[in-house]
This record gives sequence, C-alpha cells and structure tokens, in this order.
Amino acid sequence: MCGIVGAVRREEGVLGALIEGLRVLEYRGYDSSGVAVIKDGRMLVRKKEGRLENLEAALQDGALEGASIGIGHTRWATHGEPSDRNAHPHQGRSGRVALIHNGIFENYLELREELLADGVEFLSETDTEIVAHLIDREMAQGLSLPDAVRAALRRVQGHYAVAVIAEDEPETPLVCARQGPPLVVAATPNAAYLASDVLGLLPHTNKVVYLEDGDVAVLGAGTLQVTDFAGQKVEREEHQIDWKPGDSGLGGWPHYMLKEIHEQPDVLARTTLERMDLDKGDVVIEGGQFGNEAMRAVQRIQVLACGTALHAGMIGRYLIEGLARVPVDVDFASEFRYRNPVLTAGTMALAISQSGETADTLAATRLAKELGAQVACICNSAGSTQVREADEVLLTHAGPEIGVASTKAFTAQVAACVLLAIRLGRAKGTLSADRARELLHGLRNLREQIEHLLSEPVREHIRSLAKQHARAKGFFFLGRGVNFPVALEGALKLKEISYMHAEGYAAGEMKHGPIALIDPGMTIVAVNAPGVVADKVRSNIEQVKSRGGVALSVGSHQGSHKIAGQCIEVPETDEWLSPILNSIPLQLLSYYIADLRGCDIDKPRNLAKSVTVE
Ligand code: G6P
Repeated sequence: MCGIVGAVRREEGVLGALIEGLRVLEYRGYDSSGVAVIKDGRMLVRKKEGRLENLEAALQDGALEGASIGIGHTRWATHGEPSDRNAHPHQGRSGRVALIHNGIFENYLELREELLADGVEFLSETDTEIVAHLIDREMAQGLSLPDAVRAALRRVQGHYAVAVIAEDEPETPLVCARQGPPLVVAATPNAAYLASDVLGLLPHTNKVVYLEDGDVAVLGAGTLQVTDFAGQKVEREEHQIDWKPGDSGLGGWPHYMLKEIHEQPDVLARTTLERMDLDKGDVVIEGGQFGNEAMRAVQRIQVLACGTALHAGMIGRYLIEGLARVPVDVDFASEFRYRNPVLTAGTMALAISQSGETADTLAATRLAKELGAQVACICNSAGSTQVREADEVLLTHAGPEIGVASTKAFTAQVAACVLLAIRLGRAKGTLSADRARELLHGLRNLREQIEHLLSEPVREHIRSLAKQHARAKGFFFLGRGVNFPVALEGALKLKEISYMHAEGYAAGEMKHGPIALIDPGMTIVAVNAPGVVADKVRSNIEQVKSRGGVALSVGSHQGSHKIAGQCIEVPETDEWLSPILNSIPLQLLSYYIADLRGCDIDKPRNLAKSVTVE
C-alpha cells in the first residue's frame, strides 16, 4: 500500500532523506512515486509512474536540492490507473498546497461535484486531488495550514493518512493526519519526520510517536504537536523501537525473501526460547499476558486474519483444539466483518497479523470487541494499532519483514500458536506438564533442524527440483490435518512470487472433484508427517499418481516419499510442530521457481505488503 514520508529540517537538504525513506518503504508495494518540496518559498513537485529509479532520473536536474521541507510518496493505485498524472503529491488550484495520501476518501464524488461547480479543474482521476483543492480553498480564505487541513478533513469520509505542505507557512511547515491507515512521527533536536511505517523513521531516530485515529500532527524543525480534528491538544506517548536501521537492509543477500528464509532459525528461537518454563512444563508470556485467569475464561476462540496470517491461524486451530480442547473458528477478516457474526459468551477474538495494520483484520477485531469478545493478538509489530487495541498480546519478534511474500513472520506466527495452545492447555488442565515439556523440547530443537533444511546440499536439491518443475502447467499442494494449511500456504507462496497457478487442497477432498484436473503436466506437492493422517495422505498421493500426476513428497513420512518418487526429506519432529519444518522447503521451492522464471521476487506484481485499505 502507499508509502508516505515527510521531513522538515533546520539545515537544508531534505530531498535525500525523502528518497531514502521511500526506498525503505518500497517493500510495501507501489506503482508510481513522487516528491514535493518547498524551496525559496516555492512549491516544486516531481512524480513518475513506475519504480523509484524513474523518479530519481526526473530529479537529476538538481532543481529540488537544498530544500529544507518536503513530502514523498509511493502510490498503490486505487482510484485512477498508475500514471505520472495520478501519482502523488497532488496540488490545489493555486499550486500553494501539496498533499500525499494513503487510503480512500469515500465521499470524493460529491466533493468533486462541489469543486467543479466552484470552477476547479482536475488534473487527475484520484480521490486525493479533491482534498488538496479543499485545503487550498480553506487557505485562500485565510486559514493557516493546520486549520485548513482540519477544516478540510472534517468534510471528508473514509480511511486515510495524509501529509501536507504549503508555501508561505514558515511557522507550521508540515502537517499530517490519520483516520485509519498508520502514521508515525518523530522530532529530533533539529528536524522532524513522518512516515507511514516505523521503518521509514529508523534511518533518523528510534524514538517515535504513533498517531491515533483523529490525530493531526504539526511538525517543525525540532518540534512536534498533536491535536484532534477540532484543534485541541492531545498527548501521545513516545515509543522506543528495538529494530535497528540495518535490520531492514539486504546484507549481501540477492533478495529479502531469501534473507528472511535464512533468518528463521534465529527468529524461531526469539519467538519461543525465553517463554519456555521447562520446570513447570508451561509457557510464560511477558507482562503476565495470557495468564491463568484470563485463559480459563476462554470458551471459544475466533481467529481473524488475512493471507498468510490466516494460514497460521488455521494451523493454530488444530493446535488449540488438539492440545487445549477449546473450540476454534477461523475466518477471513474480510468475511467476518460483513456476515453479521454470532459470538457466544467467553469468546476470545485472536487477531493474527505481521504488520498489525491490516485494515480488514483491524475492523474485524473491533467488531468482535463490540460483540463482547476479549481481544488477543499475535503480531510482529510492537507499536502497531492491532497491538495497541488488544487486551492480550503475543509478539512474534521476527524482526522487520521486507519481502512481500511472508516467510519468517509466518513460521513465527505458527510457533506463537504452539505457545498459545500450550498456555491454554496448561491453564485449563487439558495438557499435562510432561506433554508440554515434550513439545517445548521439540520447539527447542527446531533451530538446528531448520539450519539443516537451509544447508547447501538441501538447498541445491530443492533448486534442482525447482528446475524440473518450473514449467509445469500447474500445481496442487496437498495436505491433511495440521499440514493442510501448510499446503494452502505453499500454494499461496508459489502464486505470489512466480505467478504460476497453484492450488492448495485438503488431500482427502481431491477425489471429490479437483482430481479431474490431474494429468502429466500437473505437479502435485504432498505435505505429510508421521501421525494420524499420514497413511491417508499416502493413499491420496497414490490416487493422483495413478492418474498421471507428477508427485513430489515433502515431509518426514517415508511411505509417502516412496510412492511419490521425488521427495524433500524434512527432519522428524512432533506432528504438532511439523508445519513449521514442512513450510521451509516450500518457501525455498517457490523462491527458486520464481527466480528461474525471472520474477521480481521481493516486489511481486499487484501485491502490497501491508494492506491498509478494505
Ligand atoms: C498482504 C500481504 C500478505 C499478508 C497479508 C496479511 O496481503 O501481501 O503477505 O499475509 O497482507 O498481512 P498482515 O500484516 O496482517 O499479516
């Protein structure tokens, strides 16, 4: 989704900081970019369709160098095609005001009519431009920039984060506001910065302020003031961020996705190790979160998530029902919020989200809260909206994830679900200390087992399989039980980055229809682990093989490997932990296939890392 940055400095030279910020936010996904600065009292704007390099080429003339205030934007088109014209910033009629925006102004059509009647000519098809004109009009009537922004925003409906600059406003040079998508601001002694996520601020400071919905922030060189839309001052706490700027660099890896796949041994250790109490056979979450009393009150869990995080939640359902005997429903957040759901007493809504800013997940969780649920979340972003709104928080500590296709955040979410299942099972007395200890030991061994899966010989083997299958007509990923969602996630990963058609399916369901698609051009990836459904999955592999499908078995079930003919051997672990290990070769398989097909792995077409609109 759109990336927003802004900076105001006592010294000149803000352009470099804006471009650096946009570079950091590139991972969010975008199709055009632009900047606006005020230099010698004049607004200067450059914007270009396509990659940031195109914008940088347009800045080569140096005309924007030396300004001390500016805003920058990467756009992910919602209203109007990706083009130079539709790229942000947008300006008002007088050219004095420039505005960038993430989100949607829902009543833009009626405001557009009003402005047209006023003689305004529109230069773009965006909803954003309307608000630039509204602010411009307020300023023409004598309002200061902050007052004009507040007045204009009182007229719009929707979800948005905006940043605005205006000529002739030396006292209040940079204004931003939030109603929905995230905005983070920071003041340092000689400057102030804003960004749509914390990574955009890390090159300058690790002390940040998260704006809340309804906040308007006014930034000067070294100053920061937050008000509500009516202009009343509000206090917002400063948060210290543990992530370092280097955490979001490539560090010699060809792609973020590969780097992040290789971080998994450490990530899994960070998610789990310090939370294990092996003496008691239990899990302890910081700050007494998920304590006995709260967990005993839980009668049902409603998982709410999107994309990869939803797959982690589906694995969580098997774990929680299996180990803690608490019924679990899992729903796409985007479906839950509009299906008039019924929540019974004692429901805990469990949001799972890497970013903590996914609009659908936030809205679904808020609805669950309104319906009386207590709200818990598994999240990777400590200061995110999701975390701030939850009663119980389990952070995954995966570090910043830049690759659009989620890898380390996913396995960390699954590990967090294991911890939660153990905690619930222990609190409710459905899980013995001995069984919990076995699982905790299993979690502890994962680090070494993942290191093995990432070793050169295993990677080479997966790469050679990728070569054989990179031209397949299509893929089916099959799994059952706790490994069924692993199959879904395997298919999602492949589609996301290689653009190949891949479907994840419950292996036992194949015979009820999809088996009609099997022919020698189809690759079937079967995920299996020794356990209750292992032999069933093996028979399902036989069914597709006997219809001409090419089968590749992934896991530690020898019977499946034998039937399939091709396999990726995964170290043996407890069946409940097998999704974590089985996911890793699937990530590598997708990565190598996408690489062989020449795809842009870290920035797959049409996708955004953090989807902050509905
Ligand atoms: C987007 C990303 C997915 C991600 C999903 C949920 O669609 O492309 O990779 O799984 O959002 O994101 P979240 O931050 O809530 O986990």
